[in-house]
Amino acid sequence: MMDEAAIKAILARDAERVETYLTNQGPQGNPLHGLEIPQGLADAVAYSLMAGGKRLRPALCLSFTRLFAGDDEKALPFAAGIECIHTYSLIHDDLPAMDNDDFRRGKPSCHKQFDEATAILAGDALLTDAFFLMSSCAESLPAERVLQAINRMALAAGSAGMVGGQFLDMQYTGKQSIPLAALREMHAMKTGALLQASCLCGALLAGAENEELKKVAAYGRALGAAFQIADDILDETGDAAAMGKPVGSDSANGKITYPSLLGLDESRRLAEEEHQNAVSALEPYAHHAECAFLQGLAAYVVQRVQ
Ligand code: IPE
Ligand code: IPE
Ligand code: MG
Ligand code: MG
Ligand code: MG
Repeated sequence: MMDEAAIKAILARDAERVETYLTNQGPQGNPLHGLEIPQGLADAVAYSLMAGGKRLRPALCLSFTRLFAGDDEKALPFAAGIECIHTYSLIHDDLPAMDNDDFRRGKPSCHKQFDEATAILAGDALLTDAFFLMSSCAESLPAERVLQAINRMALAAGSAGMVGGQFLDMQYTGKQSIPLAALREMHAMKTGALLQASCLCGALLAGAENEELKKVAAYGRALGAAFQIADDILDETGDAAAMGKPVGSDSANGKITYPSLLGLDESRRLAEEEHQNAVSALEPYAHHAECAFLQGLAAYVVQRVQ
């Protein structure tokens, strides 16, 4: 298995590629009919997008393209688009009407640095611009593959995925308890869907077949579950400076989380179980160098909380 330093090195390399693409090839570099992005909006988008972040979702997309022998350079616009969708979800998640969090990625949240209307519009812009970026892939990859990937990503980001999960999160806020199955479903939608689709889209862009996509989906599902359980644990035990976002926000907001429902020990056990599920899903690719990175990434996600 790959050690943490090697995993971080690959993440850092791919993060830099995605950030360079976002800086040079976003809508700001492609004005339509001479129309320019208003400066205040461009500033808010760049403020949140370029504030760092682990860039986990684009890294998953690029890695799965490599696993299925695709050219990850050609998948770069798609990976950049995924990061835009993710960043929009964070900006809206922090709004006063949702989690009301003042810090994100080590800086004041978008609505604190600017204002609420600007933060809402920066999120809207990132979500829409993501589809501009993802569809740009059709310049260098078969249009049919790109369309399949966009179709999958749209499903994962929308009402049957991330947005639906965020709605459930708000609906459950303040409740004493919910069934574990409801919490699992909420996690799978608000966080798992985008992580899983990041994996699937990388595979789709490389032309992976249905049988392969099933294994990718199983890995993505387990990774997503492990990731949000770990995020819930870190909200209780983490270091705000290291995470760049507040600790204790979930309990202050009355959120239902894994630790609130099951306690820290059982939450850690379940995160580890999902890590193992993720590793098992990719066993058929154990001979492939890329597999070591993907399995190591699943370990890295849960190591942060053990
Ligand atoms: C935070 O995601 C939101 C969740 C789904 C828990 P990340 O932990 O990937 O945030 P960044 O991109 O590194 O800031
Ligand atoms: C958010 O979950 C998931 C999203 C879709 C943004 P959280 O509300 O737990 O994410 P953080 O902890 O604020 O990053
Ligand atoms: Mg939230
Ligand atoms: Mg939040
Ligand atoms: Mg959280």
